[in-house]
Amino acid sequence: MKAPWRRVRSFAKINLALEVLGVRQDGYHELRTLFQSIDLHDDLALRVTRTGRVKVRCDHPLVPTDETNLAVRAARDLLEFARRPEGLEIDIQKRIPVAGGLGGGSSNAATVLMTLDRVLKLGLGSLGLQALARRLGADVPYFLHGGTALGLARGDEVYPLARQLRAHVVLVDPKRPVKTAAVFRRLDARLTPRENSRSIFYFVSSDLEGEAGWRSLTNDLEQAALEEAPDLEAAVSRIRGVLSEAGARHMALSGSGSTYFGLFSESRRAQKAAAALRAHGFRALRCRTLTLDQYRRGVQRG
Ligand code: C5P
Repeated sequence: MKAPWRRVRSFAKINLALEVLGVRQDGYHELRTLFQSIDLHDDLALRVTRTGRVKVRCDHPLVPTDETNLAVRAARDLLEFARRPEGLEIDIQKRIPVAGGLGGGSSNAATVLMTLDRVLKLGLGSLGLQALARRLGADVPYFLHGGTALGLARGDEVYPLARQLRAHVVLVDPKRPVKTAAVFRRLDARLTPRENSRSIFYFVSSDLEGEAGWRSLTNDLEQAALEEAPDLEAAVSRIRGVLSEAGARHMALSGSGSTYFGLFSESRRAQKAAAALRAHGFRALRCRTLTLDQYRRGVQRG
């Protein structure tokens, strides 16, 4: 008899802000970022098998189904680490835009780690899964926590914040995948490094409250991402115009792009912004932020 399918949700993130502080010895970049979970999610179904093999299916043509799929690597690494003979079937229904700066692949990997840990009763928890998550990618450890969190080092040193954000979010998917590594390479090619900013630290410590705090938050990857995808530049300027007109509290590119987002305190304004963006021909999605607790409960409520 086969084990039953376990259904879970794999949530996306946005980066409320992202500062690049320099290049590290390992070639990665030293970052300071504010991660935020949103309720946009992929649907995952997992089934433990006796085959010892890990297989994945996905309904999205751009997602690889071989061993380069991060969810497959996550399952293999964990089964090997725990010295378990089982295998796993993974079925992914993609809703998070691919290569959009929303962490879809990293989220899928972390969700597989957390679910296998529970199903196989390994008792590792987020602390015990940390090292495996780090090896899979810089964003993966964040997804073991979720909510509003500060990310340091490669973005893989994660500190959930006491102040958990609640806001309405409008995402604009320009349907233009951008490769993260290429954006970082462009950033390196710049002659003048950016001055060290402390906006995120001020924001986190509540020294910069209210509008001033939000205004000081930026994404250092935005310019490089627009250079990597020049056709995005005109789109982004129109998107910013519409979001600002509708009263967005904050707007930025998420990660290395290409998804742009606006944050709103009121649902009515978010609704208005999404409608206006659609009227301009953009694909706009409305969603909400998730706190640490909402994230934890939400993953298991597949
Ligand atoms: O860790 P992950 O595979 O998700 O990162 C994708 C790419 O983004 C890396 O290969 C690297 O080029 C770049 N990156 C970086 N510094 C970071 C995170 C990612 O240079 N802190």
